Amino acid sequence: MFLQRSIEVTNLTRRFGEFTAVDSVSFSVGKGEFFGFVGPNGAGKTTTISMLATLLTPTAGEITVNGFDAVHERDKVRASIGLIFQDPSLDVELTAWETLFLHAIFYNVPRNLFRTRVHELLRLVELEQWKDKIVKSFSGGMKRRLEIVRGLLHHPKVLFLDEPTIGLDPQTRALIWQYLKNFRAQEDVTIFVTTHYLPETEHCDHVAIIDKGTIVAYGTPPELKERYHQSSMDAVFMEATGHGVRDEELSSEAQSRIHFKQGGGFRR
Ligand SMILES: Nc1ncnc2c1ncn2[C@@H]1O[C@H](COP(=O)(O)OP(=O)(O)OP(=O)(O)O)[C@@H](O)[C@H]1O
Ligand SMILES: [Mg+2]
Repeated sequence: MFLQRSIEVTNLTRRFGEFTAVDSVSFSVGKGEFFGFVGPNGAGKTTTISMLATLLTPTAGEITVNGFDAVHERDKVRASIGLIFQDPSLDVELTAWETLFLHAIFYNVPRNLFRTRVHELLRLVELEQWKDKIVKSFSGGMKRRLEIVRGLLHHPKVLFLDEPTIGLDPQTRALIWQYLKNFRAQEDVTIFVTTHYLPETEHCDHVAIIDKGTIVAYGTPPELKERYHQSSMDAVFMEATGHGVRDEELSSEAQSRIHFKQGGGFRR
């Protein structure tokens, strides 16, 4: 299984001034694989995914995505991937259909194929009856589902998702993973997903744990649990990094919100 490679990363490094956000990271992802990239806030997940998706230039190292060099063949990489950002990126004034139509224009999806594809994908995420509704009226989970459909519309060979389940309730998170697994079963697509919800990594074929810019563990979930003599991925993470993922879970932005609320006299 996964004999062919979709993603090859060698000694990938990204510095911001003096600070090294991603420090000589190497890994590969097999074709058709469901790959989980997990780590706490600030670990380097978004920085890595941004370099793989050609949005950020590496300081050093090599990246090949679908056989193309992510620095020298950016356009070819871009045409062959789908990307779902950590922060929502939908125009909430558009309807779901308009959102997808615009994307189809950008990616030159032929009009007759577009119609069939949109129906098929919206049906898979149970949004078909919402296609003519304005995105503003959608719940967080529905917006995420629409973003996933948009990411898959042009038949990418690799779908990158940066924290697709962040901020969603546990039930919706489970649904999103179920949809992703269904897509993977039905489409010829490799899925690269970042998360800091460790139990979610049980859905992945391989998991890389990143901490402070370095990969500290890699393997299938059963391999990792066996290697660290643990029964959960949370415990594997603690063993591999020496701390819990939630130690650093609150981003500085979230912390400042709490300070603001405290300052404003709200109870937490
Ligand atoms: N443009 C930038 N300039 C300076 N520092 C940056 C920049 N982008 C990221 N960093 C720093 O690099 C580190 C890694 O950030 P990154 O966003 O990749 O982490 P992450 O694992 O995605 O975290 P989160 O779970 O909060 O999304 C952080 O310390 C962050 O502050
Ligand atoms: Mg991030």
